[in-house]
Amino acid sequence: MSLKDKRILIGLTGGIACYKIPYLVRYLWREKAEIRTIMTENATRFITPLTLESVSNNPVATDLFPPNRFAGTHHIDLARWPDLIMVAPATANFMGKIASGISDDLLTTVICATPKPVMIAPAMNPQMWLNKVTQRNHDILGNLGYIFIEPDEGYTACDHYGVGRMAEPQELFEAVKQFFFDRAKGSKKTLTGKKIVVTAGPTREAVDPVRFLTNRSSGKMGYALAEAAASLGAQTTLISGPVNIPPPLGVHLIRIESTDELHAAVKKAFASCDCLIMAAAPADFSPAQSLETKIKRAASDLSLNLKPTKDILKEVARRKKAGQIVVGFALETDDALANARKKLSEKKLDMVVVNTPGEDTGFDHDTNEVTLLVPKKRPVKLALASKSEISYHILDRVSALL
Ligand SMILES: Cc1cc2nc3c(=O)[nH]c(=O)nc-3n(C[C@H](O)[C@H](O)[C@H](O)COP(=O)(O)O)c2cc1C
Repeated sequence: MSLKDKRILIGLTGGIACYKIPYLVRYLWREKAEIRTIMTENATRFITPLTLESVSNNPVATDLFPPNRFAGTHHIDLARWPDLIMVAPATANFMGKIASGISDDLLTTVICATPKPVMIAPAMNPQMWLNKVTQRNHDILGNLGYIFIEPDEGYTACDHYGVGRMAEPQELFEAVKQFFFDRAKGSKKTLTGKKIVVTAGPTREAVDPVRFLTNRSSGKMGYALAEAAASLGAQTTLISGPVNIPPPLGVHLIRIESTDELHAAVKKAFASCDCLIMAAAPADFSPAQSLETKIKRAASDLSLNLKPTKDILKEVARRKKAGQIVVGFALETDDALANARKKLSEKKLDMVVVNTPGEDTGFDHDTNEVTLLVPKKRPVKLALASKSEISYHILDRVSALL
């Protein structure tokens, strides 16, 4: 999507990754975004304001009290001006100051004064990143609604290996585009007045009090769908297995653990919803009996007897009332389309989203590449995109079907 007329304020703090920011500015500039920059005093030790001025075509702001110039409410103007602020690289020091409400230079004062969304791309030595205070500040800021572009794992400039390296400029650029894409989609509110139920994540089938069978589902696709549905105005319920993702804002979250619990929750929620999207990965089998005491270590082999679990999708789709829509997911490793077509007709679904596990797709990835199958229509293949972007495509279809 084009960033024409989008106002982006980039804040640089004193980390070595400052040298990558001119690339980010260039990528944004090529998409016609309007860019202003603020540098902390320590950021100017790493690259010169002249470099940023040249690539952004705008003067760089560095002083809260600029010499030889009327300062006035310079910081308030800068806080109000952008559509989006990105602080990159963000030092541990910067995160600490913002988490504590300190505003002792131009950048921290602008962040304190802004009502606009703020993205933070931390960059630091892995030990600094792992430092408990840094992690606490990260959590505080995340909970306050600051949007993190998490650091990558790899070698940092100090030649240490670990997590802490700033996300590459291309990734920061993609995050900015994604932000505006989500906002444009979210502003359409095509699902206002609709009730959508999304399931996400794996289930756990107890073997004994301490062990369970599960699968690799991360829940990312279901959570992205629930977030997108809520942003499109739907009254959204998310039924989630055990995952490690914070619940999206404005979504009613129901936590479940086993396939039986998922079944009960879906049955209840389905009775009054317009659309059910089953993105969860419930177990197909569970132990024939769950033991009440822990199975002891033994030298001999152990066989587990498994029984098939209930086919929730089939059960629920059977009870579909006129006007209700059921969307299933099919993760296939072979004959993907043929198997998904079978699922579509056998289970009487309204749409099947087909994906195959791959390098950038399927379980635990932030991106996915899917094909949408709808009865009596040609399959529609969507290009590799973030799970959020894929969610909006799926919900566009849902909205048309509804
Ligand atoms: C060569 C060098 C590289 C540094 N790189 C980083 C860094 O990548 N991340 C970080 O958090 N701090 C880094 N620091 C420390 C910060 O510059 C220091 O904490 C400073 O107070 C940050 O100021 P600011 O947040 O106001 O820009 C570095 C320091 C030096 C001397």
